[in-house]
Amino acid sequence: MEKPSHVDWENGSAEDVLRWSFEEYGSRLALSTSFGAEDMVLLDMVSRVAPKVRIFTLDTGRLPEETYRLMSEARSRYGLSIQVYFPEASRVEEMTQAHGPNLFYDSVANRQLCCHVRKVEPLQRAMQGVGAWITGLRREQTASRSAVRKVAEDETRKGVTKICPLADWTESQVFEYIRKGNVPYNELHDKGYPSIGCAPCTRAIKPGEDRRAGRWWWESGTKECGLHEQHAVAGAKV
Ligand code: ADX
Ligand code: SF4
Repeated sequence: MEKPSHVDWENGSAEDVLRWSFEEYGSRLALSTSFGAEDMVLLDMVSRVAPKVRIFTLDTGRLPEETYRLMSEARSRYGLSIQVYFPEASRVEEMTQAHGPNLFYDSVANRQLCCHVRKVEPLQRAMQGVGAWITGLRREQTASRSAVRKVAEDETRKGVTKICPLADWTESQVFEYIRKGNVPYNELHDKGYPSIGCAPCTRAIKPGEDRRAGRWWWESGTKECGLHEQHAVAGAKV
């Protein structure tokens, strides 16, 4: 799909981008939230500027208890309907039977398999009929995200537009917004977790460490789960 051209997306504020996106895509637009700090900013903005946007989350079944607490808090604070996608039970059963519950520590291939079963496949279901999805990616987060645009075709999903309203935000801006608006956020952020994923695959970072060092900390190289880099899971099989 061509990028809509009647507005200056890259120079628009995050609120502008959200408003324009809803005008452009309506019911074909969806916000994908993991309840991380960026996603809480987006949830708060959407509740004000485009409350009818469809919102979904991928519950991998291995999220930290703190994330479930925040999910409950966000539901009551904003009163928005948040669709929850779980992994296919039969695929989780098959995978666990074959490789055990903590297969991700055994090899990169097993980790990618788990991410595929618990995140990527549910995302594929959540994305059915979606013309544009909103994510909380920021350029500052990793080298592989440094060229993220506010609006662009999703390189891994042909015909789908990827919208990242906070692409040019810094981490301080995110937390400043949260503080000023008294926006609920994951208590793990106060315990040294700048980036939060599944409980067994996320740890706190040490002073001076990279902000994403706590994600899949035992691995080296490009640490993506496949939501944003499809090639990371190519060939993953149970
Ligand atoms: S990840 O690919 O490494 O896990 P990250 O945690 O940085 O991604 O989050 C980036 C964006 O991906 C989030 O802002 C959100 O839009 C989307 N995302 C990540 N995890 C989930 C999830 N469990 N459910 C829905 N969206 C998610
Ligand atoms: Fe599995 Fe860890 Fe990926 Fe979560 S982050 S889906 S537990 S490998």
